Amino acid sequence: MLVTKQKVLRRFWYALMPMSMLDDGPQPFTLLGENLVIWKGADGKPAALRDRCCHRTAKLSKGFVENGNIVCGYHGWTYDCSGACVRIPQSPNSAIPAGAKVPSFHCQEKYGYVWVALEDPLQPIPDFPEDGDPAYRRILQFYEKWNTSPLRVMENSFDNSHFSFVHKANFGLIDNPVPSKYDFRPNDWGFEAETHVPIRNPPESFRITGTTDAITERHLTNRWYLPFSRRFGCVYPASNRHHIIYNCATPIDDKTLMLAQWLYRNDDEASCSTQELIDWDRPITNEDRDILEATEYDACIDTRRRVEFHMESDKPGLLMRRMLLELLEQHGEEEVFEASGPGTAAQ
Ligand code: FES
Ligand code: CO
Repeated sequence: MLVTKQKVLRRFWYALMPMSMLDDGPQPFTLLGENLVIWKGADGKPAALRDRCCHRTAKLSKGFVENGNIVCGYHGWTYDCSGACVRIPQSPNSAIPAGAKVPSFHCQEKYGYVWVALEDPLQPIPDFPEDGDPAYRRILQFYEKWNTSPLRVMENSFDNSHFSFVHKANFGLIDNPVPSKYDFRPNDWGFEAETHVPIRNPPESFRITGTTDAITERHLTNRWYLPFSRRFGCVYPASNRHHIIYNCATPIDDKTLMLAQWLYRNDDEASCSTQELIDWDRPITNEDRDILEATEYDACIDTRRRVEFHMESDKPGLLMRRMLLELLEQHGEEEVFEASGPGTAAQ
């Protein structure tokens, strides 16, 4: 599935960047192949326009913010948050030409991030119930570009059969490669999947898991939100420490994405510092990234094309592919795949 070719994907919210980045002025971002400029308006809320001045096409992200409006860096045409041109400095006494406007997009702040939907969203921004709950602290762990497709990231995050191999240097049990099954609860926005996973728990992970046993258990209540957000709801029953991760794999184009990661913990800085938590997840993230960037980015959602083989533990990913295919069909679309790539090797 080539994400930039599936129009219905424009109708979801995606996390673009931390709000704090807007303190440095307007920022460019490419979402599903659409070049955007994001800035902070006079009310402190973020705004998103196409990154193209309607005078001579200069990127508005090269400009600056003045009184909450964005000013083009080329000749100073000025646009408000709705994209209407409100000032042409060279013609102060003439009316602004009718239709002098730049397309605008749905944009809002949530969980410390800027979220954008290119067309009327089908679902709200995924609910992170831990956010704002005094039992939890929020840690914005990272925001980085990966060279793969968001479906690969989503599938990997529910694929417990990769732990023993990709994460064998960390928590994976190489001698225990058969993963336990998930209980699935499909719903309007995707599904919830619950399971229990034994993990290697070396002494240096004590402050993360809160336990000292050589092997400990994770109780996972994970969620997938159509199309490319997920919750990793990890509880260590022996200590009742919660390590809840949310990711949004925001598609930049068909081959690249921006991965944002939030972490919620129910312990405090003295029990486990922010830096320890970031340092713990970093090598695990790098291991996932390394293998995912070594896959073909075009994951085919119509499995009838049989370009990949499957096994029992691929069930979450196969469910995602089926639900994505149903989403396309509901909106009158067919899957578009790489003409010269794996999708053509059908049957
Ligand atoms: Fe933007 Fe001229 S190109 S003002
Ligand atoms: Co992994």
